[in-house]
Amino acid sequence: MTTQQEQTSSHLRFPATFAWGAATSAYQIEGAVNEDGRGASIWDTFTRTPGRVLGGDHADVAIDHYHRFRDDVAVMADLGLTAYRFSVSWPRIQPDGSGKVNVKGLDFYKRLTDELRAHGIDPWLTLYHWDLPQALEDAGGWPNRDTAYRFADYARCVHDVLKDHVHTFSTVNEPWCAAFLGYASGEHAPGRREPANAVRAAHHLNLAHGLAVQAMNARRVGGCVNLYAITPDTASERDLDAARRIDGLQNRFFLDALLLGRYPDDVIEDIGTGLDFVADGDMAVINAPIDVLLVNYYSRFTVSGAPGGKASAAAAPTDTGSPWVGSEHVSFVNGGRPVTAMGWEIDQEGLLEVLTRVARDYPPIPLVVSENGAAFDDVLEHGRVHDAERRAYIDAHLGACRAAIDAGVPLEGYFAWSLMDNFEWAWGYGKRFGLVHVDFDTQRRVLKDSALWYAEIIRQNRRHE
Ligand code: NOJ
Repeated sequence: MTTQQEQTSSHLRFPATFAWGAATSAYQIEGAVNEDGRGASIWDTFTRTPGRVLGGDHADVAIDHYHRFRDDVAVMADLGLTAYRFSVSWPRIQPDGSGKVNVKGLDFYKRLTDELRAHGIDPWLTLYHWDLPQALEDAGGWPNRDTAYRFADYARCVHDVLKDHVHTFSTVNEPWCAAFLGYASGEHAPGRREPANAVRAAHHLNLAHGLAVQAMNARRVGGCVNLYAITPDTASERDLDAARRIDGLQNRFFLDALLLGRYPDDVIEDIGTGLDFVADGDMAVINAPIDVLLVNYYSRFTVSGAPGGKASAAAAPTDTGSPWVGSEHVSFVNGGRPVTAMGWEIDQEGLLEVLTRVARDYPPIPLVVSENGAAFDDVLEHGRVHDAERRAYIDAHLGACRAAIDAGVPLEGYFAWSLMDNFEWAWGYGKRFGLVHVDFDTQRRVLKDSALWYAEIIRQNRRHE
């Protein structure tokens, strides 16, 4: 460790109970797509459709975590993690999306959680990280209300078997992405471009969350949202309105539903087509009490409402160019900050902003940062990856976490995205988010400098436990 590293880490003192984590998801790491009775997911289909994923990449093998999970848990233990967030592959548990449970699928997660607990690492289980069983997509996917009920059945199956193995259950990862990238922009599986259905999908993902919370009656359960800090490009009315729209659909549509049990009036008005798919009682189900809110945060968007406003090359995860935020023009513009390899602007102040906003505007609820991290063009040289930029990114965002706690936000943990380089959805293996470098040909794992530094931060904080 260099002096500079020691100095940096000495600034970061967190409460003794703070969860020090890293996160992954099933389809991005497991591989073994045809083993032990797993069924097909929408991502298996999508990756096989030419032109959908950069370089034609798929995750049939991914980083082979299904076979290497014991080694990977050993890496987590080396890092000193106290918590690990992973997801369960629904098509491993119910190959056809409903009905009979595949015991071998559940057994894998029993082995994984046993291994984690044997190393003193708390398992944080996410039920849905985008790998919908293909059979359910064939029946209409998330725009079909029945999918939400199927999800609750699946959640109950997983909970029945794993309830004593898991520290915290969470329901749907980033419902905005599942709905709008999957059903509006089509950048993600199932690749449909049907904006009206994307709003239906969003509601059914929220409903799925609430039904699952009720079905599990778990000791500890949370919902997960991806929140963005949003700034209008200028103080013009047009830009302010554009920022309101994006904030409405991206952030408040989900926060208000989960935490207040309603959809924001202005967003309903923006959508314009009515919400006839919201049945009586749905909002109360979606508002079912939860124990923790998982917040994924990556970036700030600067938003313009100017006609012909130049969309930043970086743009958002999607350029929401924007039939589903009403007819007004909205574009993402360059806010002038440094960017990651995804083109996403780096702004740790945005993390502080979203955390304090949730604490201020919503009923009290413990929070965790359930994903935060950055892709950079890493180079493996002489067995090392000098990823100073990733280290600086995480350092700055941990600083924001510390500031949030100082401001009274009940923040209980931080999960770096991601533990290891993996399959980055439409970008295939082209973007590396890991603390740990993975050679995708040999599957060799090498701790990057950021991982060594993160381990040191954790060590220093745990010394005071
Ligand atoms: C959020 C998603 O949950 C995760 O799957 C993805 O890899 C990261 N963002 C980075 O894009």
